[in-house]
Amino acid sequence: MFDRPRGTNDWGPQDMPKRRFVESRFVQLAESFGFREVSTPTFENLELFTAKSGPGIVRELYAFKDQGGRDLALRPEFTASVLRFYVSELRSRPKPLKLYSTGNVFRYEEPQKGRYREFFQLNAEIIGGAALPSDAEVLALAIGTMRAIGLKQVKARIGNIGILRGFLPFEPDDQSVILHSLDKRNFEMLDAELVRLGRPDLGAPLRKLVGLSGGVSVLDEAAKVLTGAKNEGFEYLRKLAGLLTAYGVAPSDYAFDMGVVRGLDYYTGMVFEIDSPNLGAEKQVGGGGAYSLAEVFGGERVSQTGFALGLDRLVMAADAEGAIEAPRALDAYVIPIGEGAQAKAVEILTTLRAAGLGADIDLVGRGPSKNLDYANAVGARYAVLLGERELKAKRATVRDMASGAQREVALADLADAVGGR
Ligand code: HAM
Repeated sequence: MFDRPRGTNDWGPQDMPKRRFVESRFVQLAESFGFREVSTPTFENLELFTAKSGPGIVRELYAFKDQGGRDLALRPEFTASVLRFYVSELRSRPKPLKLYSTGNVFRYEEPQKGRYREFFQLNAEIIGGAALPSDAEVLALAIGTMRAIGLKQVKARIGNIGILRGFLPFEPDDQSVILHSLDKRNFEMLDAELVRLGRPDLGAPLRKLVGLSGGVSVLDEAAKVLTGAKNEGFEYLRKLAGLLTAYGVAPSDYAFDMGVVRGLDYYTGMVFEIDSPNLGAEKQVGGGGAYSLAEVFGGERVSQTGFALGLDRLVMAADAEGAIEAPRALDAYVIPIGEGAQAKAVEILTTLRAAGLGADIDLVGRGPSKNLDYANAVGARYAVLLGERELKAKRATVRDMASGAQREVALADLADAVGGR
């Protein structure tokens, strides 16, 4: 007996349809928004992630050497890979590029409910659009996906890391240390760093700022706290609110929150996180914002914005809210009765499958009553019983598994009889 590695999950036949349901809602909506799918490798050269993602991610990397001595890492997210792909091969495509991906990512974190070492993300990026409409578009897709899944409890928190960076008169690396302490709400570390940088006076306004959250009026309050900061960042968020209304995003779906700092280092402008409040400790189901990575990877300056939703957490939230549609049941379970019926039963099974129906057949050689038990256990809608006498008459006995009612049906009408909804 082997155990799974710590922090990984098996997805059984009951759970996979839930994951596919949530994923398909994202894919459908992203496609309808004009996003197109891309797929990048599960592992990349280590430097891709150490270049700019920040110490939070670097500490959590699954890094290893391959047999040729190359330093590689399992992807901890999609953004760096998508931007590498963009810079190396997609740069000459008409802009904006709207790209989405889904798949597994890996982070060496302390596992708990909702926090794993292998988990799944639904990721979207817009490269080369104007900043404001692109930010609004990714927010509309992120919040819209939650709605399309059927989640009622959605709360986005929108901030602007550009405002904070503008307020911190330090080198980018020192800014990052301050931002990390704010992200973790580690005020001891914040104060110590500000002392080190000779600006302990900034501690009080920063503390006040990260506590500000609410509607558009919060932006005025925040502007008063950060008297030294440029006002454009607040004006930007006001305009963003106007666009979100045009997208049909309700003001109750989001709040402006100056404390959204994000755990990755590449963000430069609008940033957001989305919570599903009923999830408890690991309630953050998504995050994203405007960033600059193309430049770090050797590309030209171009606007970049995007987000990732955590699929595992979305499934938990959708399950808790009863939002997941039951998967399509098996239409027919075919039961041959007697040796002579076997081959003909397979032919009938094949015509049902060719008609687009879900159909299965006895592979064990059980008797009819055991087979009916099995059909019941796997949730088949109908059992199709095929005895030699019936086959001679080109007929089958169809049993409705829910009611137990049985009737004889001509083989020519069988697909209609078991396919009707
Ligand atoms: P992130 O906030 O690091 O952003 O991750 C996005 C989402 O992945 C989180 O909100 C959470 O739902 C889920 N997640 C993160 N860690 C775990 C974990 N250990 N177990 C389960 N779920 C987890 C990014 O990854 C950015 N690349 C998003 C982005 C795209 N920004 C711009 N473009």
